[in-house]
Amino acid sequence: MAIATPARTDLPALPHWETTPDDLPGAIRQVKAALRARITASGRSVEDVFAVIEKRVRAGVEQIAAEKARGDAVWPVIDYADIAAGTVTADQLARLRQRGCLIVRGHFDRDQALRWDQDIVGYVESNRFFETYRGPGDDFFGSVGSRPEIYPIYWSPAQMQARQSDRMARVQAFLNAQWTSQSDGVQWFDPQRDSLYPDRIRRRPEGADSAGLGTHLDPGTLDLWMTQAYQRAFRHLFDGTVEAYDPWDAAYRTAGPQYPGTTMCSAFRTFQGWTALSDMARDQGVLHTVPIPEAMGYLMLRPLLSDVPDDDMCGVTTNKVFPVSDTWHPLLLEALTGIPDVRAGDSVWWHCDMIHSVAPVRNQKGWGNVMYIPAAPWCPRNERYAAAVREAFITGASPSDFPAENYERDWPNRFQPGDLNQTGRRGLDLD
Ligand SMILES: [Fe+2]
Repeated sequence: MAIATPARTDLPALPHWETTPDDLPGAIRQVKAALRARITASGRSVEDVFAVIEKRVRAGVEQIAAEKARGDAVWPVIDYADIAAGTVTADQLARLRQRGCLIVRGHFDRDQALRWDQDIVGYVESNRFFETYRGPGDDFFGSVGSRPEIYPIYWSPAQMQARQSDRMARVQAFLNAQWTSQSDGVQWFDPQRDSLYPDRIRRRPEGADSAGLGTHLDPGTLDLWMTQAYQRAFRHLFDGTVEAYDPWDAAYRTAGPQYPGTTMCSAFRTFQGWTALSDMARDQGVLHTVPIPEAMGYLMLRPLLSDVPDDDMCGVTTNKVFPVSDTWHPLLLEALTGIPDVRAGDSVWWHCDMIHSVAPVRNQKGWGNVMYIPAAPWCPRNERYAAAVREAFITGASPSDFPAENYERDWPNRFQPGDLNQTGRRGLDLD
C-alpha cells in the first residue's frame, strides 16, 4: 500500500470555507495570503515553488512541440483488445500517465456504435422530442422546436446499454487503476466499481457551424483552493514539498464538498470521456486538451505570484467554468492538442484536471456524435450523488447536476429497471 506524504503539521493552518463564502474577493485575499504564508513558512518562496512546476510543465510543452514537428502522434492510442487481454505494454502505460489522455480504439464495434446512434434518433423521434424541444434549459428565450446539438437525454436504452456494458466497465477499471486509490489505510475509491454517471448526448449534424468551447477545466472553481479537502488534496503545492505533487493521487479528493454552480459535476471522475457514435475527422471541431497532467499544479500556483491582483484567482470564480487564458497561462496553451481521427465505437478520455476545449468548425463534414460516459468510480462523493441518480432513473427525470428539463418522464420506451444487469445495479447501488 502506498504511503501518502503526510501534510506538514508544523506550518500555519489555512482558513477554509466548506460552503461558498459570502464575500468572494475577501475570501480570495485571505486564502491567497495564507497560502503564501504557508509556503514561506516551509522555507521556500512562492516563486521557487512555482518555478519547479513551471519547469516540469515546460518540459512537457517542449516535448509535445517536438512531437508535432516530427509528425508524431501526441495522443496515446490503445486498442480495446489489449486492455481486455491485459496486453497493454509498460511503454503504453507510461505514455498514458505522461499525457493523461487516451484514445481507446475499437472500444465498441463500429456497427454497434452506429446502431446506438440510430437507436437514439429513433428514441427521441418516437417521443416527438424535436417538436417539443423548448430550447436550452438555462435560456428562457430558446426557440421552441429548434434542433439542439446537445440532447438533454439521459435514459435511452442505447446510453444505458453502453454504461452498464462489460466493455465499458473494463476500460473504466483500467483507467481508474492509473490512479493511487488507496493510501494511509484509506481506500479513496473503488477502482473496480463505477457509479454510472448519467450525462447527455451530442449530435452535431453535417453542415453545422459551431463556435466550439474555450479552454477550461471541470473539477471545480474557488473550492479547489478554499475547502479543507481540496487544500489537503493539493497539500504538496502549498507545504514546501512541491516535488511530491502527484496528479494521480486520489487522497482527500473523493469525499469533500463542492461549491454549487450551474457547471458543477457532483461526481469524482478519474477521467472524463465520451464514446464516438460517428466517425469524426481531426479537423472537424473536435476535442483538444493540454496533455500535461502537472499543468494543474501550474493553475493552482499561478494566482499566488505577485503580478496577480490580491482579490483575483486568475479569473476563476464560482458559477462559471474555470477559465484557462492567454492572459495568465500562455505557456500551457502552447501545448493544446486535438484528438486524432476517430471512428464510431472509439472512446476518448482525459484526466479530470486536464485543460480542454472544443475547436470551432464551419460547414462540418460528416456527423459529430458522441455519448458522454466518464469513469466515476465508487467513493463517498459518488455514493451520495448515486442516490439522486437512482431517483432520476426511476422517474425518468434529468439528473440533478443538469437543468431540470425532464423530457423523458413520460417516454414509455426509456430504459427500464428490469433491463439493468449486475453492473448497472451496482452502479446505482440497487443491490
Ligand atoms: Fe469541460
